[in-house]
Amino acid sequence: MVRDPTAEPGEGEPGSPYVLRALVLADAGEVLTVQRAAFVAEAQHYDDPWLPALTQTLAELEQEIRTSSGIVAVTRGRVVGVVRMRTFVDTLYVNRLAVAPDCQGQGIGGALLRAAEQSTTASRAGLSTGPRSGANLRFYQRRGYILDTESPRRAETDYLRLTKVLRLGCA
Ligand SMILES: CC(C)(COP(=O)(O)OP(=O)(O)OC[C@H]1O[C@@H](n2cnc3c(N)ncnc32)[C@H](O)[C@@H]1OP(=O)(O)O)[C@@H](O)C(=O)NCCC(=O)NCCS
Repeated sequence: MVRDPTAEPGEGEPGSPYVLRALVLADAGEVLTVQRAAFVAEAQHYDDPWLPALTQTLAELEQEIRTSSGIVAVTRGRVVGVVRMRTFVDTLYVNRLAVAPDCQGQGIGGALLRAAEQSTTASRAGLSTGPRSGANLRFYQRRGYILDTESPRRAETDYLRLTKVLRLGCA
């Protein structure tokens, strides 16, 4: 288990120290709750309650956990954040980063993203975010992600793709 070095000791939530550990099948229910709570804000941005992160079922999430990997942030036994990722060829694909609304703004999302990046030997990371999610875009850009302008977008509503070089290959 990894303890975030910047976490302050404290009692109760929010503000409790948290640990990061691998996502396991038994986390599915709690992860679904965190995901749905976190993505409600996104649904409001898009005036769309049918975002895939909100309509995903428990069975679908369990299947995803079986076939990919993830990391959860846990504080006092409660799952408060999650990220899922998959390495394909030489790219780490980061998906559905989510932090419980009452625990946002404490560095948990950033720590999960960093841990996902550190979990792979891939040389780059890729993710996508909604075109109206300005806060998410800035969050990723501050963490080294660059808008991939070469990926074709058929419509203004298409997701934006971002990439980050994790390590330079040998020339
Ligand atoms: C995006 C998300 C995962 C970030 O998680 P988080 O734990 O809030 O992230 P952090 O605390 O590490 O960083 C949040 C940033 O916003 C700032 N912030 C300040 N107050 C904040 C608040 N009340 N809430 C959120 N962020 C706040 C933080 O200081 C930090 O700034 P920085 O980028 O300069 O470091 C979280 O907002 C979330 O779950 N959003 C809904 C789901 C979603 O859109 N996921 C992304 C899909 S692409």
